[in-house]
Amino acid sequence: MGKKTVFSGIQPSGSLTIGNYIGAIKNWISLQNEYDCYYCIVDLHAITVPQVPKDLRKNTLELLSIYLASGLDPEKSTIFIQSHIPAHAELTWVLNTISYMGQLGRMTQYKEKSQRSEENLNAGLFTYPVLMAADILLYQTDLVPVGEDQKQHLELARDLAERFNNRYSPTFKVPEPLIKKEGAKIMSLQNPKSKMSKSDENENGYILILDKPDVIRKKVKRAVTDSIGKVKYNDEQLGIKNLMNIYSVFSGDSIQEIENRYGGTGYGKFKEDVAEVVVEGLTPIQEKYDYYMKNKDYLEKVYKQAAEKANYISMKTLRKVYRKVGFIQR
Ligand code: AMP
Ligand code: TRP
Repeated sequence: MGKKTVFSGIQPSGSLTIGNYIGAIKNWISLQNEYDCYYCIVDLHAITVPQVPKDLRKNTLELLSIYLASGLDPEKSTIFIQSHIPAHAELTWVLNTISYMGQLGRMTQYKEKSQRSEENLNAGLFTYPVLMAADILLYQTDLVPVGEDQKQHLELARDLAERFNNRYSPTFKVPEPLIKKEGAKIMSLQNPKSKMSKSDENENGYILILDKPDVIRKKVKRAVTDSIGKVKYNDEQLGIKNLMNIYSVFSGDSIQEIENRYGGTGYGKFKEDVAEVVVEGLTPIQEKYDYYMKNKDYLEKVYKQAAEKANYISMKTLRKVYRKVGFIQR
C-alpha cells in the first residue's frame, strides 16, 4: 500500500555486458524492497530491427534467466514479457495520435539509426519512443531507472503524459528518470572514451555477463591503460579509472580503499585482482543462469503469473484512456 512504482526494461537482442549489469539490472535489484517494481523484457521494441524468430525466442528466455540469476525476485517484482500484454500496443496507438512528427524526428537514437542506414528505416523505429512511453505510463510509474542514454526518451514520455492530461483530464502520472551517477557508464576496455557495448566489433572491449573466467582474465589483462604506472582515480587515466569503477562495483570497496591498496603496486597485480572480483561476482550468476535455462517450466510459471498482474493493472489505465478519448465501452 502506498508504495511508489518503478518500471524499466531491456530488449532481448543478444548477450548482455557488465555495462548492462552495472548500469541497469544491479540498480533494479536494490529497488525491489522499497518499490512496486515492473521489469519488462521489451520484445516489441526488439523487432524494430530484423530478428530471426527462433533467436528472438531464445534471447527472450535467456534475458529472463539473467534477470532471475542476477537477483530479480518474482515474489517481489513483476517480471514480464511486453508482447504478453496487449495494452502496450493499444496505448501506443492512442499516444501516436498526440505525438508530433517533429519531436520524434529529433530523438538522438532515431537520428543515429536513420543516418546509419536507409535499409531498415521502418516506421517502428520512428515510433519506438512512443511505445516506450506507453510501457511506462500504463503502470502509473513514478520512477524509471535507466542509463543516461535513455533520458531523452523519458522526456518524451513526460511530455506525452502531460499533453494527454491537459487535453482530456488527469489520467497519467508524470514519471521521473532515476539515473545513477556511479557506474552510469562503464567504458570499453579497448577504448575508455567510448561506452562498453555488445555491438563493439572488438570483443576485447566488453565483458559479457556469461563470459567464462578465463575469457574475463584475458580481456582484463588486455585492457588499455597508460604509461603513468600508478593506480590513481583521475581523468588523465581513463582506462585505470574505468577498471577502478568496475572493481569498486563488484567488490563493494570504495575508490579510496582501492587507491590505498594498489597505489604502490603495478598495473599487473591490479588487473589480476580486477579480473578476480569480476569472476567472483559473475560465477554465481552464471551458475544460477544455467539452472534457470534448464528449468523452462519454472520460467513459464514466472512470466505467466507476472502477466496476470501486469494485464490487470495496465487494463485499468487503458480503460480510462479509451473512455476519455470517446470510445464506446467494450
Ligand atoms: P542497451 O543494451 O543499450 O539496450 O541498454 C540496456 C540498459 O543498460 C539501459 O538502461 C542502458 O542505459 C544500460 N547500459 C548499456 N550499456 C551500458 C554501459 N556501458 N554502462 C552503463 N549502463 C549501460
Ligand atoms: N529503450 C530502452 C533501451 O533501449 C528499453 C526500454 C523499453 C525501456 N521500454 C522501456 C526502458 C521502459 C525503461 C522503461 O534501453
